[in-house]
Amino acid sequence: MTRDINEICRVMCLTAKSAGRIMYGTNPADVGITQKPGTANYVTECDVAVQKYIARELSVFSPEIGFFGEEDTEKGKLISDLAFVVDPIDGTSNFMMGLRLSAVSIALCDVKANRTLAAAVYCPYTDELFSATLGGGAYLNGEPMQVSARDLEHGLAGYGSTPYDRTVADRHMALLSRVYAKCIDVRNLGTAALHLAYVAAGRLCAFYELRLSPWDYAAGALLITEAGGKITNFSGDPLDLSAPDSVMAGNPVAYAELKELIEE
Ligand code: IPD
Repeated sequence: MTRDINEICRVMCLTAKSAGRIMYGTNPADVGITQKPGTANYVTECDVAVQKYIARELSVFSPEIGFFGEEDTEKGKLISDLAFVVDPIDGTSNFMMGLRLSAVSIALCDVKANRTLAAAVYCPYTDELFSATLGGGAYLNGEPMQVSARDLEHGLAGYGSTPYDRTVADRHMALLSRVYAKCIDVRNLGTAALHLAYVAAGRLCAFYELRLSPWDYAAGALLITEAGGKITNFSGDPLDLSAPDSVMAGNPVAYAELKELIEE
C-alpha cells in the first residue's frame, strides 16, 4: 500500500462524518423503503444514497482500494486484497422509526490476511466519532479510549437479536436469559457497530450476536482490540471478514465470562 494508514484513516473519519450528516439531515418519513431477503430486513433510499456518497469519496481518494458495502447489489468486489468494508447506516430499523441511534461504519480491511487496518464509526446524533488504526490505539473524538474493567456482574451487556434470521431465535433467547442472570442489565441498541464502539469506550462490558455480517463488525472489531478488549466468533476464532459470523466481544474479564456462558 502506497498510502500511509493514518492518512487513510483521517479520510475515512472525514467521510464517515459527512455521510453521518446526510443521515442526520434526512427525515425517514421522506424516504422509500424496500424489503431485503430475510425477516424484517429493510433498506431505505437513505442507506443507498449514503453508501453511494461514501463509495464516491473513497474511490476519488484511493481508487486502488476495493469497496464492499452492505447495500451493494453486486457482491463480487472482495477480490482485491484491500477493501473498504462499509455499512452506510448500521441501525437501519432505528433510522426508519426515528429512534436516532444509528451509525456510519467504515473499515479498511486486508481481506486476504483477514484483518482490519483502520476503522471509523460515527454516530451523528451524539456527534461521536470512534476511530482506530492497527497498532495505533483507539480514540473517541480524538481522545484515547479503553475498555472497562467491569465484569458481567458489575456491567451492562449488549446483545443483538439476529433479527433477519429467526431460525436462531430459540438459541438467542436461551443465551440471553443466561447473560441477563449474570449482569446489571442487558441492552439491545439495534446497532451492532455502536454496540462494539460502546464496548471499546467502556460503556458496555460485553456484546454478542449469533450472526452478523462483516460490514456490521469489521470496524468495531478493531476499535475493541485497539482499546484493549477481545473479540472473536463463538468458537473463539478470529472473525471472518469475508462472510457472516457469530460475534462475542468484551473487556478481557467480561469476554471470558461471556465465553463460558456461550459454551454452556
Ligand atoms: C443490523 C443492526 C442490528 C443487528 C442486526 C444487523 P443494519 O444492521 O446492527 O443491531 O441486530 O443483526 O444486521 O441492517 O441495521 O445495518
